[in-house]
Amino acid sequence: MDRWQTIIEPFRIKSVEPIRMTSVEERQAWLEAAGHNLFNLHATDVLVDLLTDSGTGAMSAEQWAGIQRGDESYAGSPSWYRFLESVQALFPFKHVIPTHQGRAAERILFSVVGGPGTVIPSNTHFDTTRANVEFTGAEAVDLVIPEGREPSTIHPFKGNMDTDALDAFIRERGVEAVPLVMVTVTNNSGGGQPVSMANLRAVREVCDRHGLPLFLDACRFAENAWFIKQREDGYADADIGDIVREMASLADGMTMSAKKDGIANIGGWLAMNDDAWAEQARNLEILTEGFPTYGGLAGRDLEAIAQGLREVIEDDYLRYRIRSTAYLGEALVASGIPCVQPIGGHAVYLDAAALLPHIPPLQYPGQALACALYREGGIRGCEIGTVMFGQHPDGTESAASMELVRLAIPRRVYTQSHIDYVIEVIRWVAERAGELRGMRIVEQPPALRHFTARFEPIV
Ligand SMILES: Cc1ncc(COP(=O)(O)O)c(C=O)c1O
Repeated sequence: MDRWQTIIEPFRIKSVEPIRMTSVEERQAWLEAAGHNLFNLHATDVLVDLLTDSGTGAMSAEQWAGIQRGDESYAGSPSWYRFLESVQALFPFKHVIPTHQGRAAERILFSVVGGPGTVIPSNTHFDTTRANVEFTGAEAVDLVIPEGREPSTIHPFKGNMDTDALDAFIRERGVEAVPLVMVTVTNNSGGGQPVSMANLRAVREVCDRHGLPLFLDACRFAENAWFIKQREDGYADADIGDIVREMASLADGMTMSAKKDGIANIGGWLAMNDDAWAEQARNLEILTEGFPTYGGLAGRDLEAIAQGLREVIEDDYLRYRIRSTAYLGEALVASGIPCVQPIGGHAVYLDAAALLPHIPPLQYPGQALACALYREGGIRGCEIGTVMFGQHPDGTESAASMELVRLAIPRRVYTQSHIDYVIEVIRWVAERAGELRGMRIVEQPPALRHFTARFEPIV
């Protein structure tokens, strides 16, 4: 036990951005203008923005110094080499292909390995990953352990892949239909839940049995490594960098959004050991991202990522990061508010299905709850439920396995008093949950509808 209970933010603030205070009436009007889709709001009309932890982190003084140092040479910039060194220090894959963000890495990877007749198993595909798999005509399949689909079941590594199901699945579909296996660390769509080293090893064994490559969707690799250090036997004294390298050693490649554990505002990469795939990937990258030593990023972005990767594996940072997310979640659980448990790394997930049992899945309880949190307290979260996952490529719709509202915590941005305010607002809304009504969709695109669909409340 530490001597002090309070985990202080391990930084001082030297630059601030004002937050404009707003009223319930103003927010109600903005909500209507936005078609009850929180992605349509002006960010300046939000008090505490927990929409995403992606690209929203605060950069350190050293990262800003890197931004000044950024070299914008088209090819072979020293910023590229600093980026490459930082990436390979943690993920020593032979080929590193920079991209403007994670989904570009996904698009390139699945354009190379996917296509009609192929299927990509994962613990849980994130929405952009699933969409990029399906866009090529391939199928995306989620094989998380059963506990990973039960919001209130406590399990230390709820992001784990069900390796028996994976093995059976590969046998059933035939190995030739499966170009690779993917594991998302931490499992964002399943509640920010970690994957254990033992599970990664077991997935590796299944892959070896079938001669298949394993790729990590490594967006939150450092948070995952911290959970391994805290929860898995044999890792308590391990260095976070070493844990990350061990995770990488079990894989053949990765996709990455540096907007998460790169603590950068933009960027990502695709990495792998396979020469033939890498060559195809680089050709695709040149087509849409840019030359392979910048890949859609400015030299200054490469510098910010290079430095962010050094900071994200520091114990002081990770202890604060994981503890401050748990602080929000534990306060809500103590108030009887249903949340995915245990609390994940980057976000707290409210269980809207449990809180609003009177709203059926196809009336989007998560969307109703997210809108209520904005209207009452100016807090912007994100529905992760039937709005995000219920729409199928053939135009049909079905209920998602969970109805969640994700409150994602941007890295190093909000202080404990912001979070105390969030707790107060959620308690207020939860006490009046019975008054909330469902929503109907009045406009939607054919895929990834959560970004642009418009809703109206059902009266
Ligand atoms: C697990 C996971 N994979 C992939 C992505 C896509 O990354 P990007 O937003 O940089 O395209 C995200 C983004 O939220 C994610 O959480």
